[in-house]
Amino acid sequence: MCRTGEQTERGNGVGMMNNSTFVLRKAAEILESVSPALEDEVICAYVRLLLEQRQLYLDFSARHGTPVYLFDEGVLLQRAEQFTTAFSQEIPGLRAFFAMKSNNHPAVAESLVKFGLGLDVSSGLELETALDKGSQHILFSGPGKTEAELDLAVAHAEVVTVLIDSFGELDRLERVSRVRNAVVRAGVRLTTEEKGLWRKFGVPLAELERFMTRAESLDHVRLCGLQFHTSWNLTPSSQVSFLIRLGEQLAAMKRQRAQTIEFLDIGGGYWPPRGEWLHFSATPQGRITQLVLPDIRQPQRYRYFAEPLEIFAREIGQSLRQHIFPHVDCEILSEPGRWLVNDSMHILLTVVDKKAEDLVIVDGGTNIVGWERFETDYFPVINLSNPSLVERRCSIFGSLCTPHDVWGYGYFGDGIKPGDILMIPSQGAYTYSLRQPFIKPLAPVFPLES
Ligand SMILES: Cc1ncc(COP(=O)(O)O)c(C=O)c1O
Repeated sequence: MCRTGEQTERGNGVGMMNNSTFVLRKAAEILESVSPALEDEVICAYVRLLLEQRQLYLDFSARHGTPVYLFDEGVLLQRAEQFTTAFSQEIPGLRAFFAMKSNNHPAVAESLVKFGLGLDVSSGLELETALDKGSQHILFSGPGKTEAELDLAVAHAEVVTVLIDSFGELDRLERVSRVRNAVVRAGVRLTTEEKGLWRKFGVPLAELERFMTRAESLDHVRLCGLQFHTSWNLTPSSQVSFLIRLGEQLAAMKRQRAQTIEFLDIGGGYWPPRGEWLHFSATPQGRITQLVLPDIRQPQRYRYFAEPLEIFAREIGQSLRQHIFPHVDCEILSEPGRWLVNDSMHILLTVVDKKAEDLVIVDGGTNIVGWERFETDYFPVINLSNPSLVERRCSIFGSLCTPHDVWGYGYFGDGIKPGDILMIPSQGAYTYSLRQPFIKPLAPVFPLES
């Protein structure tokens, strides 16, 4: 018998009843629940704010052409200021390291290094950019670092701290450091979920002391920190619950050993305050509906609320004071990506073809963001050439030979025609760094000169 996995019906909790009955019952529960609607006024307020700079954006597109990424450094620096203020009030001395994977454009790194942030890199490639930009404070995290990547880190040990992902990586780092006769500063990443996809990251909490014992026996790795990261957090609850678990572990640790921990890196994962804006197809109800009725498209949009950053800072700060600082007197680091960079880039496109009143093709494909983002995520498409606060239904397709190349299902404007400049706002996070040269060219990035 061929078995491709260990999962059984019993393992899924389904074994007790007929599988399809169970699934149908669960599906009915989901379909009957209601996702929170995104109110028109909220979208309009956002569009209105962007339209205040309309002429600036139009001049930019005339200067640089389309498709293009507009980089607004002013917004990026505002966010960096807001982040450091919010966190330093609650957690004095917290140091932030921008997670380069969220946007790997060198100008973003350069700007944040000048502002005073460190950089969190996840590959040799990102590390090279960080070094090139003169960063003096670099964290190198991520699973499966190659020996060549570790060697690059060790060669710059005066500015790089390696966040080790496994026992094997600890041994590899020791080996590479020994060859260079260097001692490298390191932390260990802790697994936040021991089951499912996230178990690929880090070392389970239960293995922390064994890891520390192993590191103590090595001469070229100075283990002095801990790291964890949880993703896509609309509230601080994931970070807080892991801090509680970590606190229990640290409480059981001998004082002398706990004192070797100089830093705790609490990762990133803060959701921007506008919340998550989704099409029906991305809600739990929509996902089920689309399987059964693939062509159904509901005009409603949905919003999953995100707590403001100040709430993240307050609750994480309280949790640190309650669960961590009684056992370990350490510096706190954080690795925000999305929260910092999300609003600092916009995409500008030109309408090339109008095939029907409700169907246009623009000059850029979604290969410039690297994934079929707008099938699930809602962002207003703003017709800068003919603006309005009314959203009209129209499929806005890119020019790739795939029907999944879609930017939106409506636009804010008083009509739409070839030559119009459209804006897809807030495309700074997990877009530019995921771009792929598929069929059409990539979009360049230019700074907005005010
Ligand atoms: C280890 C680590 N730190 C920080 C981040 C940044 O997360 P975000 O952009 O959600 O703040 C990520 C994102 O995947 C990550 O894996």
